[in-house]
Amino acid sequence: MLDTKINLFGIEFKNPVMNASGTGGYGKELDSFYPLDTLGGFVSKSCTFNPRFGNPLPRIADASLGCLNCIGLTNPGVKKLAQEEIPPIVNKYPNLPYLCSIAGETKEEYIKEIEILNKVDGIDIYEINISCPNVENGGMALASDPNLAYQITKECKKASKHPIFMKLTPNGVDIAKIAIECEKAGADGLILANSYQGMRIDLRTGKPILSRKIGGYGGPGIFPMALKVIYQCAKVTSIPIIGVGGVSSAEDVIEMLYAGASLVEVGSLNLKDPYACKKIVDELENVMKEYNITSLKDIIKGALKYE
Ligand code: FUM
Repeated sequence: MLDTKINLFGIEFKNPVMNASGTGGYGKELDSFYPLDTLGGFVSKSCTFNPRFGNPLPRIADASLGCLNCIGLTNPGVKKLAQEEIPPIVNKYPNLPYLCSIAGETKEEYIKEIEILNKVDGIDIYEINISCPNVENGGMALASDPNLAYQITKECKKASKHPIFMKLTPNGVDIAKIAIECEKAGADGLILANSYQGMRIDLRTGKPILSRKIGGYGGPGIFPMALKVIYQCAKVTSIPIIGVGGVSSAEDVIEMLYAGASLVEVGSLNLKDPYACKKIVDELENVMKEYNITSLKDIIKGALKYE
């Protein structure tokens, strides 16, 4: 009997595969392709206090091993989420862990969002996104300074009635140092990591393709770098890690668990193929058999013993 289950803080994930924030809407969107509880857990698109239209088009640029985006935190605002988006999906799938992702420009904005979301039944974990590469204020700035990362973690933890997972940036920072600060401030877990900044240029005009010129690059091209970040932070922290970055197969999921992740998110691939997570879940047990793995929880951080 193969065991794909992962338990964090008493929350049971029937497998470690989830969508990454921004690649499954608020739940009903992905649920229109396959039953959402195929996944181990669901992660919502980051919301802000007020609705945001996001950046002008074009917001997506193709790349050979993935794609770039500069969406700009498009979302209908936390109140609409709390009232209309989250309740139907958590009522439909009461046993599916729901990770609600929040973002903002200031500490106060995150706190106001948490206060509203604390009143919504069915949320299990908050993803505190302090690493969006596509907005002017807030976003990555908060995850680039160890003191700011410490402070926002502490305040969010104080306000939250659920475990909080801090989503960090791999761009231009000593991410292990930031991870340590988040743990010290009381984070229950880490989400490692957001996309890598990059750009594309249209050869016919010489003009940058994305409206914001620079965006976040995700997809199979970043998988080895994402793995390194997880490994590096798993060595210096002891809170659970959710791995994200270029995952495109059940083999990648297993590799991320060995590197130190307890759960894994699939991002860019969902944008190309909405069935991506389901295909990975369907393959997971076959790959476990191929590598003689009987229990996924037993391989978490397995690569660290070679230190
Ligand atoms: O632009 C965006 O909405 C992306 C958000 C993120 O990567 O955190």
